[in-house]
Amino acid sequence: MGWSSSISVVLFLTLLIHGIRSAENGCNLFEGSWVYDDSYPLYHSSMCPFIEPAFDCEKNGRPDKFYLNYRWQPTGCNITRFNGEDFLTRLRGKSLMFVGDSLSLNQWQSLTCMLHVALPSAPYSIVRNGGLSIFTFKSYGVKLMFSRNAFLVDIVGEKNGRVLKLDSIGAGETWKGVDVLIFDSWHWWLHTGRKQPWDFIQDGNQTVRDMDRLVAYEKAMKTWAKWVDDNVNPAETRVFFQGVSPDHENAEKWGEHAGETCLRESRPVLGSKYPGGEVPAELSLQKVIRSMKKTVELLDLTTLSQLRKDGHPSIYGNGGHRGLDCSHWCLPGLPDTWNLLLYSALMQKSLPILHSN
Ligand SMILES: *[C@@H]1O[C@H](CO)[C@@H](O)[C@H](O)[C@H]1NC(C)=O
Ligand SMILES: *[C@@H]1O[C@H](CO)[C@@H](O)[C@H](O)[C@H]1NC(C)=O
Repeated sequence: MGWSSSISVVLFLTLLIHGIRSAENGCNLFEGSWVYDDSYPLYHSSMCPFIEPAFDCEKNGRPDKFYLNYRWQPTGCNITRFNGEDFLTRLRGKSLMFVGDSLSLNQWQSLTCMLHVALPSAPYSIVRNGGLSIFTFKSYGVKLMFSRNAFLVDIVGEKNGRVLKLDSIGAGETWKGVDVLIFDSWHWWLHTGRKQPWDFIQDGNQTVRDMDRLVAYEKAMKTWAKWVDDNVNPAETRVFFQGVSPDHENAEKWGEHAGETCLRESRPVLGSKYPGGEVPAELSLQKVIRSMKKTVELLDLTTLSQLRKDGHPSIYGNGGHRGLDCSHWCLPGLPDTWNLLLYSALMQKSLPILHSN
């Protein structure tokens, strides 16, 4: 391979990993800052009758309101306004599936609320079947699904206990035939004790009681990447990955006192730099996606979310009784911006799936 082709491969990969850019001038939509905007929020939770209580901070009594009014402003361009009717028209007759943990649920719920508020008289139905939730806009024939799957790879019950298998993906069968897939995984890789839903990890020939969680995560993401490389036809399916959503459990990371958390945080970090630095899992994820043969578009939302120390339910999630939540996000709130970015991406390139229309 000559120099120039090596350079173009590098440039090409750089574009892939930075993924989604604005159509007009190639600016990076994920670089920017939060600005106060009176026209926000995009909806109120009372307008979204099916919203999860755990995300409904307004109803749960959160007293401060500033967090509702921040808009993401990329440095070099503007984000397209959300148009629910356009979104559903583009997806007419198609299906979209979020696959992941409760951060994925957070984004799915935000998208269903944004679309319902944009088209309040469009008939919809919600069906829940085990770990799968299906939200259907009947008149558009659009299915928006959420498949709960914290690790993406398998957990299998065996005689000695539950085994997390880093190299097997049985759930992949349910992802086939979906037109837009949006994956997410990270938070459950950190759980220990009662919240850890496995007893052993199987890594190739070895079964171990535990291992470095970041190493395990990267191996599992490689298994996921191989599944996509082997099974996805880019002419039929568009694949996204929701970047790692950060938590705010230690205020030292944003330059406040150790021991403090997201509780009573009412303003974002201003500017475009987060003092706490990068999230190692996000770097692993980028490395894996960069090594893939098929195109996966990374919703590179980690930094813009790190700036939103004010966006979590804190004590106003789960009805306000079950402790502090500095991991999920209030709705309306930050995940609405994740969906604006997803919408920009869907608008920017024609969906392969639309070529058949
Ligand atoms: C973004 O929108 C603002 C306000 O409408 C406008 O002044 C500005 O020129 C726009 N910037 C770009 C890059 O389009
Ligand atoms: C796994 O087991 C197979 C078959 O016994 C062996 O050929 C292979 O070298 C082993 N791999 C590792 C990493 O130990």
